[in-house]
Amino acid sequence: MQNLNAPVTRDHDSYRLHGVDLLSLCAQYGSPLYVYDLDHIVSCYKGLVQAFAWPKLRIHYAMKANYNLDILKALRAEGARIDAVSPAEVFVVLKAGFPKEDILYTANNMTDEEMSLVHNLGVLLNIDSLSGLKRYGEAFPGSNVCLRFNSDVVAGETEKVQTGGEKTKFGIRLEDVEPALDIAARYRLTIVGLHEHTGSGIAEAEQFYQGMKNLLSIGTKERFPALRFVDFGGGFKVPYRPEDKRIDYAVFGKKAVEIFADFCRAYGRELELYFEPGRYLVAEGGIFLMQVNTIKDNRGRLIAGTNSGFGHLIRPMLYDAYHHILNISNPNGASRTYDICGNICETGDLFASDRSIPEIREGDFLAVLNAGAYCHSMASVYNLRPLPVEIVIRNGVASLSRRKATHEAFAEEIVASYGG
Ligand SMILES: Cc1ncc(COP(=O)(O)O)c(C=O)c1O
Repeated sequence: MQNLNAPVTRDHDSYRLHGVDLLSLCAQYGSPLYVYDLDHIVSCYKGLVQAFAWPKLRIHYAMKANYNLDILKALRAEGARIDAVSPAEVFVVLKAGFPKEDILYTANNMTDEEMSLVHNLGVLLNIDSLSGLKRYGEAFPGSNVCLRFNSDVVAGETEKVQTGGEKTKFGIRLEDVEPALDIAARYRLTIVGLHEHTGSGIAEAEQFYQGMKNLLSIGTKERFPALRFVDFGGGFKVPYRPEDKRIDYAVFGKKAVEIFADFCRAYGRELELYFEPGRYLVAEGGIFLMQVNTIKDNRGRLIAGTNSGFGHLIRPMLYDAYHHILNISNPNGASRTYDICGNICETGDLFASDRSIPEIREGDFLAVLNAGAYCHSMASVYNLRPLPVEIVIRNGVASLSRRKATHEAFAEEIVASYGG
């Protein structure tokens, strides 16, 4: 357990997040419930800033990982910038107090309307296809732009989140750099940034460095005389299983900065260095709490049925992702093996299968660890179950962050959206 979810601690029979007893949160706010430790999230941010010791460093938080407003504001206060991927994400962070200059817009398959909307807000666009670049040039000749290239490295925790190589829809091919430059010249576009994002949950540092080197190999001063920054995306891995190794980002950062420093020397100017972590900043600082209401023995297969489901946390179903689960009501119970399921009408609605865990009794509360990234932000209201409440903890004090709609109010909202 040592490797997992640093902020969750056990004090005798009580599990705590930053000192706050998890069972007391369930009693106070009900469940299902997301809880985020803002201090832990901020310390992850500060750790990355320290690891990448470059004078012109910018960390653009990939808010797709978790758009919770309190998280955004806490990161903003520390100097984080934003990687946004939809117009609504841009509007949310503008309202959260981020200036437009601190946002890089990296949507995929952008419509002309979306390009105009975001460009007219004064946000820099990161364009990832020749066709998109042409349409952008036609609409906004003489503008600044960032170009996203395909790093040609295949890495990431599952195929679904690998964004380099031949199977991906992302980025301009490195070998298409000349056609990209032709389009930019035709429309007098100034290329101020180069970008690549290889994948999410990159296991080997070498894969990350290779992605960096591949992008930098095309970034000559002759081709791109007006560069302000190079952005190497996100993808920093965190351990999910007890046996997963934790990457030492202090070592990693040193090497990445060396690669960039060599590039800047050859380029002739000290450029800004951008990264776009999502998961690394928020995964471990978040947990999800749910309650078991039904234990069933299906011919020897023990099934623990909870009051949540894949609508609230889809990663196990979507990616076969592993999340460590604690029985916080019965931490000393004898281990038994369960399928831990949700309340959604599909057999695949599982948080874990064949999972050994202290005996689960009806009424017990379970804590799903590493639930801060790509959990609430990927949630849906399938089966018309409203999104769970979100709580934040700061300085050891818990407070309500996002309220839950009652079932009836939620139903009324739906009916009203259809015009009654
Ligand atoms: C362009 C881009 N940047 C950053 C990220 C964040 O990745 P991670 O959460 O693995 O750091 C993603 C994730 O999909 C992405 O597509």
